[in-house]
Amino acid sequence: MNRRLEAIAALVQSGKGLIDVGTDHGYLPTALALSGYPGRLCASDINAGPLAAARRTAAEAGVSDRISFLLCDGLSLCPREEIDTIVVAGMGGDLIVKILDDAEWCLDGRYRLILQPMTKAEVLRYWLIYNGFGIESEILTEDAGRLYQIICAAYGGSTGLGDAELFIGKRSLCPSLSLYDRQLESLARRFEKMLAGMEGRRDSPHYRLTLEIWEQLQNLRRQT
Ligand SMILES: C[S@@+](CC[C@H](N)C(=O)[O-])C[C@H]1O[C@@H](n2cnc3c(N)ncnc32)[C@H](O)[C@@H]1O
Repeated sequence: MNRRLEAIAALVQSGKGLIDVGTDHGYLPTALALSGYPGRLCASDINAGPLAAARRTAAEAGVSDRISFLLCDGLSLCPREEIDTIVVAGMGGDLIVKILDDAEWCLDGRYRLILQPMTKAEVLRYWLIYNGFGIESEILTEDAGRLYQIICAAYGGSTGLGDAELFIGKRSLCPSLSLYDRQLESLARRFEKMLAGMEGRRDSPHYRLTLEIWEQLQNLRRQT
């Protein structure tokens, strides 16, 4: 497993069951089975090729009998009564939102979500907050020079987030402050470039919103 998947595995609490949605190679459920995770393990993928690869990974590790392989869209075949942890990693934030939105049953305090968006983390955080989830922790991990955000959330909490925090999460929920501050710097630079590219459109609502978020990022920078 790479460091990103290792960081996700480290967030899994011993529980009654877990589904890894969009498992692809199946490294995560296989590693959990090898590490003695006691509950039910499911691996789902919408495509047959990745699911076959996941089966091979598990077979080579000798843990095929520990994992249920589900060929399906998102959580549609998930045995919801037998799991309490939902992992969706390595996809865009908008696709993760669609997968959760299509499974209304996951809006329930029985489930803990471990989500790792590759893009559009702000869309995912907005959906979580809007749908009654509280964000428990914001983990950042570095793998091959890139920072990855991992969001742990549970239904029933409440987390107040400003617009800028939708992009980066709350600093107080992140245990690795040096990585948070690096992410903050890179996000602020991204917004500076966007603003520079919109110089001729200062009156547009898009420019004003981008400026507002950049100003909030400046405030977050001052609090570091
Ligand atoms: C980039 S891989 C990520 C693999 C792994 N989760 C990780 O983090 O390394 C994305 C996987 O999600 C699968 N996928 C995409 N949309 C899906 C959906 N709606 N439901 C289930 N799997 C999906 C793809 O087939 C692919 O295998």
